[in-house]
Amino acid sequence: MLVSAKDMLQKAKAGHYAVGQFNINNLEWTKAILLTAQELNSPVILGVSEGAGKYMTGYKTVVGMVNGMIEELNITVPVALHLDHGSYEGCLKCIEAGFSSIMFDGSHYPIEENIAKTTELVKITSEKGMSLEAEVGSIGGEEDGVVGKGECADPNECKSIADLGVTMLAAGIGNIHGKYPDNWEGLSFETLDAIQQLTGDMPLVLHGGTGIPEDMIKKAISLGVAKINVNTECQLAFAAATREYVEAGKDLSGKGFDPRKLLAPGFEAIKATVKEKMELFGSVGQA
Ligand code: 13P
Repeated sequence: MLVSAKDMLQKAKAGHYAVGQFNINNLEWTKAILLTAQELNSPVILGVSEGAGKYMTGYKTVVGMVNGMIEELNITVPVALHLDHGSYEGCLKCIEAGFSSIMFDGSHYPIEENIAKTTELVKITSEKGMSLEAEVGSIGGEEDGVVGKGECADPNECKSIADLGVTMLAAGIGNIHGKYPDNWEGLSFETLDAIQQLTGDMPLVLHGGTGIPEDMIKKAISLGVAKINVNTECQLAFAAATREYVEAGKDLSGKGFDPRKLLAPGFEAIKATVKEKMELFGSVGQA
């Protein structure tokens, strides 16, 4: 059964580790992440962007696939199915479809409008026992058409949004989606520290987990980050493993063209990436 991300993130914040949100794109992705979480006895959050939801033929299909897998694979660790960077309308659709968690990304609105829309969603999600992530200060880079400049959030605005009763808060601290450029200045721990001072127990969310050096990940966790999002890194691992298979000519030998064989190296590569991240984030054995 899908669960809200509330308990797992409050536990993570109190225990000084982070739960990974791994974005899914298809059946192989989902199965790889769920099996790894179960093997490592780790809670997990499956992230679905609006673009990925559309690609997988809609939120209802996603809910059906994930619920089916949890049952058929005997997954017993806590799993939250979470909308990533949702619009207000997208949030309503996912609530309707049976997601257990949503993110409303109102970071591109003036703060008053972000507050107004987040307030409405706090009411709806709390009635349904779902978790809600809000965002202040846009995350840089581009993800499925959502483009952000990579600014640092205003800690006072973070407090205003946290006080609305959201479950977890994403705040821009110089992080960006996708690969980091060579001239990236790194995470602003000063901003993160100021945000945590004002928001107390609120689990903070670090987007753009791909390519952040290990020491920065650990420091971010020590300053209150309890959820870390990873997307691009699984895509890169999947693509590299698939490339290797094809370049070795394995699709041309025997039944190597069978999708169950062709996609297997990519599947294993996602499992290895997720394992590495769960170990780094400290969520292993915390289910
Ligand atoms: P990356 O693609 O950089 O790992 O970011 C993922 C993310 O933040 C999803 O919201």
